[in-house]
Amino acid sequence: MSDPAPLPDATGPGDAVWHHSARVEYAMTRWETATPPRFRDAEATLPEVRAWADRARTDPASAGAMLLTGLTGTGKTHQAYGALLRIAAGGPDRFELVAVNSADMYGSLRPSHVTGASERELGRLSKVQYLFLDDFGTSKTSEWTEEITYRLINYRYNHCLPTIITSNLPARDADGPDLTDFVGDRVASRLAEMVTALVPMIGDDRRRGRGAA
Ligand SMILES: Nc1ncnc2c1ncn2[C@@H]1O[C@H](COP(=O)(O)OP(=O)(O)OP(=O)(O)O)[C@@H](O)[C@H]1O
Ligand SMILES: [Mg+2]
Repeated sequence: MSDPAPLPDATGPGDAVWHHSARVEYAMTRWETATPPRFRDAEATLPEVRAWADRARTDPASAGAMLLTGLTGTGKTHQAYGALLRIAAGGPDRFELVAVNSADMYGSLRPSHVTGASERELGRLSKVQYLFLDDFGTSKTSEWTEEITYRLINYRYNHCLPTIITSNLPARDADGPDLTDFVGDRVASRLAEMVTALVPMIGDDRRRGRGAA
């Protein structure tokens, strides 16, 4: 990765440097576990994405959320995994990560016959240090999805936990569907305060023309 974080000076014989590389190794292993094969080469190339990642590593409580919006194939998921890689490669003090597709998340949170399983999963997603919520706003809304979204976002809002969200929906659009329509006013209000980096992605669908045909 380009532009790596500078190594701290050693306080003892190799001490700080050793601890830094141990943190990098630990975080990188966690990043690899959470990242699907297609995005193993992801790189945060946009300056605002890189800046948010650096803030999320050095001052996680102030980073809030980064929201990447745009049409399909513009590179939102790529930038998001790239941002998380940048955080890991910088050797954060702590690094726990859950990356989840929103539709899969609602699927895994549906009340099941295993008592408490969905509550435990919601707790895990709410409390994890770094959460990446991919493809937010694609599922059909219902009272149940609104309640789940509210509980998740409200917890992360209250506890100032860094969160990355991608969506095909714009943050706001007076003439068409936007994220507020999906999440409802109370979540939208929290997101408005949480989002410190709003990154609208533009361009063509990068997937088109890549195949053999
Ligand atoms: N900066 C980049 N450099 C190289 N490849 C990229 C870059 N950005 C995206 N890609 C590739 O382009 C394809 C589409 O990117 P990605 O999946 O991130 O789009 P997306 O905006 O998340 O789309 P969707 O809304 O459909 O989920 C992927 O194969 C991804 O690896
Ligand atoms: Mg995507």
